[in-house]
Amino acid sequence: MAEDRAGAVLVAGAAGFIGPMVLRVLLRETDRRIIVLDKLTYAGRRDNITRAPERAEDAGRVTFVQGDICDLAVQGLLEACAVTWLVNLAAESHVDRSLGAAPDFLRTEMQGTLNLLEAVRATPAVTKFVAVGTDEVYGSIDRNAGYEGERWYALARKQSELRTVVREHLFREGAPLRPGSPYAATKAGADLLVHAFVNSYRRRDGSPMPCVVTRGTNNYGPFQHPEKLLPLAICTLLRPDVGKAGRRRVPIYDDGLAVREWLHTEDHAYGILRALQSAEAGATVNFGSGVRCLNRDLLQAVFREVSARAGTPFASLAEASFPAARAGHDLCYGADCTAARTELGWEPRHTDLDLEIGGLVQWYIDNQDWWMPVWEGADFDAYWQSKYAARLADAGSAPYRFYDEEAVDRPLAQALV
Ligand code: NAD
Ligand code: DAU
Repeated sequence: MAEDRAGAVLVAGAAGFIGPMVLRVLLRETDRRIIVLDKLTYAGRRDNITRAPERAEDAGRVTFVQGDICDLAVQGLLEACAVTWLVNLAAESHVDRSLGAAPDFLRTEMQGTLNLLEAVRATPAVTKFVAVGTDEVYGSIDRNAGYEGERWYALARKQSELRTVVREHLFREGAPLRPGSPYAATKAGADLLVHAFVNSYRRRDGSPMPCVVTRGTNNYGPFQHPEKLLPLAICTLLRPDVGKAGRRRVPIYDDGLAVREWLHTEDHAYGILRALQSAEAGATVNFGSGVRCLNRDLLQAVFREVSARAGTPFASLAEASFPAARAGHDLCYGADCTAARTELGWEPRHTDLDLEIGGLVQWYIDNQDWWMPVWEGADFDAYWQSKYAARLADAGSAPYRFYDEEAVDRPLAQALV
């Protein structure tokens, strides 16, 4: 704590999921004042910011400004608040929504990033701008490695072969960008703008624009909106009987055979802090945990934890689930994080996924006042119905028939790829 008294840090988009943990870590590890700039879309909440500080006395160090990163007034805010560090978390972040609302994603991801870059260019006092990006820009290991369609399903059933292919094709920072969704494409566009600014402009003293891109893998932790897989599953298992369409169940894309790499938001937040402190201008840094598994194994763990801690009306994950789909679903992500380790001295600490899923489930059990208003609200119900209700009706009440193995129920530690 207290190593850095130089100016304020502005965190755009901090009222969403990852933002509160970034605020918590900045409050814990620095003495800086923090300005939060957030538009408060459906994904942003004021109370996420007020719940962020661990110590009551830190609350006074955080100032909230409701606003849009596309607004030209951002530059004035940087000057007025004596900002020297800027972090951009503001984004439309849900892949499924990007399939029906690409212009919103284009605006926030690209126009917003461009506006922030212009503001940094005009504000020499800013010594670091971290543009928080995603591993999705690299595409998907199944496509990159030539394992499409049925070839992937065959591979996904053989854990040791899957592990070999994944490890051979981990995303590295210099790899070509091959985004597979409108969300990923607009995030890639934002990354390219950052690098173009570093290449094109210099400070008056000849130094490069102090901008950095980070690329995190799938995050988990408190405060995640129930549209995303983990909270969607936990909330469904805890409270299925809400909404107009009858009992909700867990939508499973591609038989749960997709692989994701799960990074705790606290580890991600420490990575962002390390990037603010010591990443070089123009750097790109991956942040991932190395902890990867099939969605199906992850959901079995969620089912076990909910059943043990709070009970659920479902007898099994199969009974709680139904088949659904995402167009163009990226089936496998995995990131090489050597640069974060060797160049930033960063190391993830939350790597026991069985333990972490237990903690996550407990957070949702203990914080129903946080998610129930969203979960049973009219907006989310309309979203749920438009996206899932027809598939659920097609599926009927029969339990999900997972692929042709016996349903595996193993500790996540044994299921890692
Ligand atoms: P989120 O959707 O939970 O929160 C986004 C926040 O940005 C919300 O508070 C929202 O109100 C705000 N916002 C949206 N548009 C805005 C605009 N035009 N101006 C100002 N504020 C705006 O997202 P998250 O999951 O916390 O992700 C944060 C960042 O991290 C995003 O850039 C995302 O691409 C990236 N990321 C997320 C993950 C993940 O697993 N969630 C992983 C890697 C990277
Ligand atoms: O990899 C980083 C990305 O991780 C971030 O950039 C995104 O902002 C973040 O949302 C996340 O993207 P994903 O698409 O991987 O997250 P999501 O929780 O939507 O899906 C996780 C996996 O679960 C994915 O394989 C799709 C699957 N899934 C998702 C939903 C919503 C389902 O099977 N059913 C579902 O209903």
